[in-house]
Amino acid sequence: FGYCNYLVERDRRFIVDTLLNGLARLEYRGYDSAGMSVDGDGDHDMAIYKEVGKVAALRSLIDSQSINFKKTFVSHCGMAHTRWATHGEPSPINSHPQRSDTNNEFTLIHNGIITNFKEIKAFLLTKNFVFETDTDTEVVAKLTKYLYDLQKDITFTDLVRAVVKKIEGGFSFIFKSIHYPDELVATRRGSPLLVGVKTEQKLKIDFIDVEFSGGETASSNDLFRSSPETGFDEIAGNPTVSSQLNRSASRAFLSEDGLPQPIEYFIASDASAIVEHTKRVLYLEDDDIAHIGNGELHIHRLRRENDSSPISRTIETLEIELAEIMKGSFDHFMQKEIYEQPESVVNTMRGRVNFEDHKITLGGLRGFLPTIRRARRIIFIACGTSYHSCLATRAIFEELTEIPTQMELASDFLDRLAPVFRDDVCVFVSQSGETADTILAMRYCLKRSALGVGITNTVGSTISRETHCGVHINAGAEVGVASTKAYTSQYIALVMMALQLSEDHVSTIERRNEIIDGLYHLPGNIKEVLDTAPALQQLSKETLSNEKSLLIMGRGYQNATCLEGALKIKEISYMHSEGILAGELKHGPLALVDENMPVIMIMTQDSIYPKAQSALCQVASRKGQPIIICNTGDENFVHEYKTISVPQTTDCLQGIINIIPLQLLAYYLALLKGQDVDFPRNLAKSVTVE
Ligand code: G6P
Repeated sequence: FGYCNYLVERDRRFIVDTLLNGLARLEYRGYDSAGMSVDGDGDHDMAIYKEVGKVAALRSLIDSQSINFKKTFVSHCGMAHTRWATHGEPSPINSHPQRSDTNNEFTLIHNGIITNFKEIKAFLLTKNFVFETDTDTEVVAKLTKYLYDLQKDITFTDLVRAVVKKIEGGFSFIFKSIHYPDELVATRRGSPLLVGVKTEQKLKIDFIDVEFSGGETASSNDLFRSSPETGFDEIAGNPTVSSQLNRSASRAFLSEDGLPQPIEYFIASDASAIVEHTKRVLYLEDDDIAHIGNGELHIHRLRRENDSSPISRTIETLEIELAEIMKGSFDHFMQKEIYEQPESVVNTMRGRVNFEDHKITLGGLRGFLPTIRRARRIIFIACGTSYHSCLATRAIFEELTEIPTQMELASDFLDRLAPVFRDDVCVFVSQSGETADTILAMRYCLKRSALGVGITNTVGSTISRETHCGVHINAGAEVGVASTKAYTSQYIALVMMALQLSEDHVSTIERRNEIIDGLYHLPGNIKEVLDTAPALQQLSKETLSNEKSLLIMGRGYQNATCLEGALKIKEISYMHSEGILAGELKHGPLALVDENMPVIMIMTQDSIYPKAQSALCQVASRKGQPIIICNTGDENFVHEYKTISVPQTTDCLQGIINIIPLQLLAYYLALLKGQDVDFPRNLAKSVTVE
């Protein structure tokens, strides 16, 4: 998170608090340490504060220092970061900002992973750099200083460009330096970054021209392969951007008289940190280099061969509201989001489902439906909960569209370098729209000329921008690391897509009408399940909280529910839990079943109910005592088993209702075990590294 003010007088307390609050808004993404760099009291003085743990720990550390919080700045740039450790354990020294040297000449914050950091480090060691951490990020800070020392009259933007040309991997960075006071440079490749703009005056423009430099390619990484100095000299010999512009310079946000106006900028990896300050934002694209200085924002990029990116960045208006990222009267975000589901599912359907005419209209797929209908196959690609939403809707997709479907976990799909063809349709499902594996899989498929469809909850996210078409699930900001309302909304978005794709199959009319009627009743059905929360809390306390393990079994449409329920339980209660396809019981899992093994079986009524009953017999004859999730009014189990009743709906939507008690059980189990529901250990909300 970065913050710059210009011609708006701010004291240090304000600046520090703005940075800390920005971090607090990003807390939900998961992290293990935090840090900040701001100007010190001297002219060339940069202060860095870092602490392990939550943002509150960093706040206490800063408050305990003897700092003149009253000192005011008419122009200041500061930045702060929360770290989720990949290279090097969580510790103050490994936290960001990382620095170039003990004078803090350059500091930077980084999301992502630098894959060639070992090569760079080996090179810098030969130049007598002394490293103080185990991180990949420190290498970039030292490389920045190394390149700066070679040519001190370079602009900050050109310096950062020279740095990013040498590094490989995924990143978003913000750089700050005592050599470029009151300037910040931000850049990204793979990890999200957006810039919020706040000014009292009306913005005169709604886009910023991008400044291109001609001829250079952004990917050359010759520095460590040939002569390092020569490599840099080549860049240094041709460093100017403005001389080769093919658009006029992007002096954004000038006042009427052509002078910069009082303005504040907020740079963040996520809109939640910006929305309380301003709703006007620019999303940076990969390889954009954004420079903020003297109240102006400039965006530069290297012209790559075949670069077809737009030559301006539009200033967009954020659609999220601050209230969406606040807990309100709930104890936890996860709890709030579970309880929001009767509304969030309506928001997913709003304006898209006509319940009277039984018609579905997904505007984001307009123009692409014929291509999708002609697809040789549909490949669904996702991670985590989003993957489960694909599994949950696979059968209805196959049934209604009669197009072969394939389910892929993004990481595995990439590991296999799976074949993709131009007549494939690839559907990327991602709550955040920023999951690194899913983004890489998307680019892999787009490169092979497949049609890309994005299903995301985040307008402006990388997946929603880079796919050809798609559906925003409109579930509202999801903050809890364990995804809940996004799952049910993704599920509905996919069902709607299958319905629209099959709208001209006359043979499916009745089936489609039945599903659309089912969609109409969903909010009420979900409310009914939420009303049983006290009983579920009791059940988790009395029956499950002291157990070490829990198996969740079901088949058909409920296979995905089992996997998703088990994922919820392990994510936040840390209890081992496994979702088991009941059809596979005899092929292994049955060996686990005895009178002591806790089991939940999903036995809601659909065409395979008899098969589910036979699975129950198999479990019962091994003395298993399962808890049964069944439809309200189904008296088959009440005498012998503990039951959880849920209203019945049409088979392909039943999973939306059945997941709710499992979400609640996971929530209560985590509470009973004293776990931090919204911040499960080792997990992040948005996994922007591979
Ligand atoms: C992380 C989150 C999960 C999420 C998964 C995929 O693991 O903790 O809740 O399901 O990423 O995220 P996406 O944003 O792509 O849906």
